Amino acid sequence: MGHDLRPARRRRDPAGRRGLPARRPVRLSGDGDTAQGAVWIISGSPGAGKSTVSRALLRRFPFGLHLEIDALREQVVSGLAPPAPDHPPEAVRQFRLAHHAAVQQARLYAREGFEVVIDDVLWPRGVQHLVDGLHSLTVRRVFLAPGLDVALHRNATRTNKTYDTATLDPLIRSLHPSMPVDEYRAEGWTVLDTARLTAEQTVDALLATLPG
Ligand SMILES: Nc1ncnc2c1ncn2[C@@H]1O[C@H](COP(=O)(O)OP(=O)(O)OP(=O)(O)O)[C@@H](O)[C@H]1O
Ligand SMILES: [Mg+2]
Repeated sequence: MGHDLRPARRRRDPAGRRGLPARRPVRLSGDGDTAQGAVWIISGSPGAGKSTVSRALLRRFPFGLHLEIDALREQVVSGLAPPAPDHPPEAVRQFRLAHHAAVQQARLYAREGFEVVIDDVLWPRGVQHLVDGLHSLTVRRVFLAPGLDVALHRNATRTNKTYDTATLDPLIRSLHPSMPVDEYRAEGWTVLDTARLTAEQTVDALLATLPG
């Protein structure tokens, strides 16, 4: 005797779904009633403290959404292309997709009153596509610059990754010269040397840059 699950007939219950209230569309305000959140783009080398600062910053707001590009990329279950120094086209495509998804999600949540952070290793002139996609929203670009030695030390002592972060050491060293603080400043980013700051002090410093 087989199991008679009969899913189709059970789901065709006239009240919607048996035992559950009828399905209603999610209502989003999106009508200007809700104050919009700002979208922060936070960059820095691996180990600089982006994710730690992002979360500490967002906790200061009643609603906060953290969009970590690596986490979005790793939602890919089949065919995930890891980044590599020679920039394989498939990895580039998947980064582009994750950025695009982050922009869409940031727009949706910011319009609903969430403060949003997009967190990734980003170059001074490498975010125009994000800024363009976030048009009509307030966008704040932040570069966390604790310096090479501190980034290496933070990377060596952290426990927040599922892999051995010693593998990132050469990457941090090789990226450092291509992330000069002067270029970020020249492009209008807020640049913070966080070497002697805790994450909370970094958030204080970021909030102190806001107008009003
Ligand atoms: N002032 C600080 N600001 C941020 N993080 C700090 C600070 N001091 C120490 N840390 C520690 O540095 C480590 C690295 O931080 P985090 O994981 O946030 O870096 P990240 O920039 O997000 O790196 P990745 O790009 O590899 O994800 C964490 O263990 C964090 O607790
Ligand atoms: Mg991180």
